[in-house]
Amino acid sequence: MSSLFGTTEPLSIDQADALPRGLVDTLVDSGLVERIDGGLRGTVQFSSWEGFVVAHDPSNPLELRSDSVSGINPTTRTLAALTVRRPVQRALDVGTGCGAQALLAALHAEEVVATDVNPRALWLTEINAAINGLTNITCVEGSMFEPVAGEKFDLVVGNLPFVVSPDIDYTFRDSGLPGDDVSRLAVEGAASVLNPGGYAHLMCNWMLEPDAHWSDRPLTWFTSLDCSSWLLYHSNESSRDYAEKWNHALLRNRPDEYLDTVERWVAYHNDIGAVAVANGAIVLYSDGLGSHRVDRMAVPPQGNGGSQVERAFSAAARTDDRDLNEAVITLVSPHSLQQLLRHEDRRYVAADAQLVLDDTAGVAGDVAPMAAHALLRLDGQIALGDVVEQAVEETGLDRDELLDTTISVFAELGRRGIIDVRWPD
Ligand SMILES: C[S@@+](CC[C@H](N)C(=O)[O-])C[C@H]1O[C@@H](n2cnc3c(N)ncnc32)[C@H](O)[C@@H]1O
Repeated sequence: MSSLFGTTEPLSIDQADALPRGLVDTLVDSGLVERIDGGLRGTVQFSSWEGFVVAHDPSNPLELRSDSVSGINPTTRTLAALTVRRPVQRALDVGTGCGAQALLAALHAEEVVATDVNPRALWLTEINAAINGLTNITCVEGSMFEPVAGEKFDLVVGNLPFVVSPDIDYTFRDSGLPGDDVSRLAVEGAASVLNPGGYAHLMCNWMLEPDAHWSDRPLTWFTSLDCSSWLLYHSNESSRDYAEKWNHALLRNRPDEYLDTVERWVAYHNDIGAVAVANGAIVLYSDGLGSHRVDRMAVPPQGNGGSQVERAFSAAARTDDRDLNEAVITLVSPHSLQQLLRHEDRRYVAADAQLVLDDTAGVAGDVAPMAAHALLRLDGQIALGDVVEQAVEETGLDRDELLDTTISVFAELGRRGIIDVRWPD
């Protein structure tokens, strides 16, 4: 089947002749369509995403162009779900690609600046803003934060080429910077352009050195920042798995180069001291407090996960849990509570339950079985201490033990942004 855009056959001359001449000329002039021997072919592909129509380069071409602008991929979705979606004046999308993050930000920011080193990315972002009727996105060419030097933003989103790669073959993948410098520089740059009270959300990869914990390296990036941070770790891959994944297209297109390339990547990782590469996201909040938290993502971020991010940072500002019994806790809906039962000594024993929000930043909450007595009695009206009293009366459990467990479980749920905590005035 033929179609003008997409991966199917191009339009034949006869089919192209059936289109209005003016339309064809306009499309050719715009660069979205090119004349080829024997017909007409679209140069891009269109996808629908989050209510937008998004033009981007074809995802599986025979030969990937070095300035190829990727479409919507899992990191695009993760970043979009993590972003705090509150009304702001100025937003920055650094490394905008086809403009996916800029389009979403344009719905809740007065103005959005989208930057990229790749002119083709900015061309597509301008087209995408226009076809979606958005007039508040400005595209600026340049590297990282250079094009916005001296400017300030209330929101920063960045899905830069974070791959730890020895090559400079693809603009969307290779930053040309050594090791994981692109991720470190993204963190430092984002912190430097944030207005007080602003949030930055960055997709990152970082090197894992032998015997290091996954959080060790990124935590060193935060020490001199005037921001609080939340490191959301997803997973890690050995250098070889990582090299194979990022060079997968070679296996199909130029198989003779594949093995050498993988070996060269593994040798590069070896030289820079990386045994594996970790991936995840970093959120910065410009509150001047410098509190730093690390968590594992249990599920992929989805929906309005930014709401969990906001609750987590607001809880981080409170360092004392002792008065939590005076706070009123509301469960965030919708969510699921997943209870695991372990079989031991010929009976089932309740293990910690996991509370997972539908609108999630990916981090789940652990609920010890004892704290579930309070959780199930929350009504969003009475203080946590009174909820515990009620549970003691109804279950006969030890008051001190129930109160201590409940306070420590709910304090942690609060810090993970899993529950809504209303403190007494
Ligand atoms: C992985 S794509 C991300 C696209 C999009 N932001 C998203 O979320 O799907 C990375 C983008 O960063 C751009 N880029 C590469 N090096 C850059 C640099 N030094 N400064 C700014 N952007 C850069 C690439 O051209 C590409 O468009």
